[in-house]
Amino acid sequence: MEAHETNLLLQAKYNITACFYDLLDYPWERLYQKWRPGLVGDMRGKVLEAGVGTGRNLEFYHRDVELVGIDLSKPMLRRAKKRISKSNCRVQLVNEDATIMQSMPSGEFDWLFSSFMCCVMPDEIQQLAIRQFSRILKPGGRFRVLEIVFSKNRRLRKRQKLFAPFVEAVYGARFDRHTLDYIEQSPQLKITRTSFLKDDTYLLVEGVRV
Ligand SMILES: C[S@@+](CC[C@H](N)C(=O)[O-])C[C@H]1O[C@@H](n2cnc3c(N)ncnc32)[C@H](O)[C@@H]1O
Repeated sequence: MEAHETNLLLQAKYNITACFYDLLDYPWERLYQKWRPGLVGDMRGKVLEAGVGTGRNLEFYHRDVELVGIDLSKPMLRRAKKRISKSNCRVQLVNEDATIMQSMPSGEFDWLFSSFMCCVMPDEIQQLAIRQFSRILKPGGRFRVLEIVFSKNRRLRKRQKLFAPFVEAVYGARFDRHTLDYIEQSPQLKITRTSFLKDDTYLLVEGVRV
């Protein structure tokens, strides 16, 4: 399937999921809420959040941030818009495909952030998005990408496999994406740290655009 077709399918999925996304995500969001301030709170300058979703991170950005949040789905962005009032920084929300980032200038952003976006993207699409990450960042600009991956622990993995069909059907997300590999292969993105926020399933990849 062409990248464009894959993205249309994902967009259609999120246009529907948007109606009940926050409700559906609630059990997990209780956990993510503990992480979100630390994930974006130290960022300053021009920040691009890719796959901003319903805007769950907006309230945690510092006031010295100029944020551009992009998302493929307009209904998701409409929900994010309602959260702008909680934010302390300047926020611009744009209906934009992260694999193209047509309206985003090259080499202008101090930070690129995304949480749980790459895991919804099939591998070939994901590589396009990662190429865009490196294009829009300034030399020396930093990135932070949070993903969910399969655990190496048998018991945990078994539980994840139980949830996997639901997660894929509703969010398009999979635990077996190769985000870390693709970032590693990107010539201009240098990984400075990888860590897990919980067990060995919530993978945080951090680095710099060289
Ligand atoms: C699982 S949600 C995560 C939302 C948010 N980042 C969070 O942490 O709650 C994934 C989001 O990525 C968006 N997305 C998927 N593919 C995209 C693409 N190619 N460009 C921009 N956004 C995309 C979806 O529309 C959805 O809002």
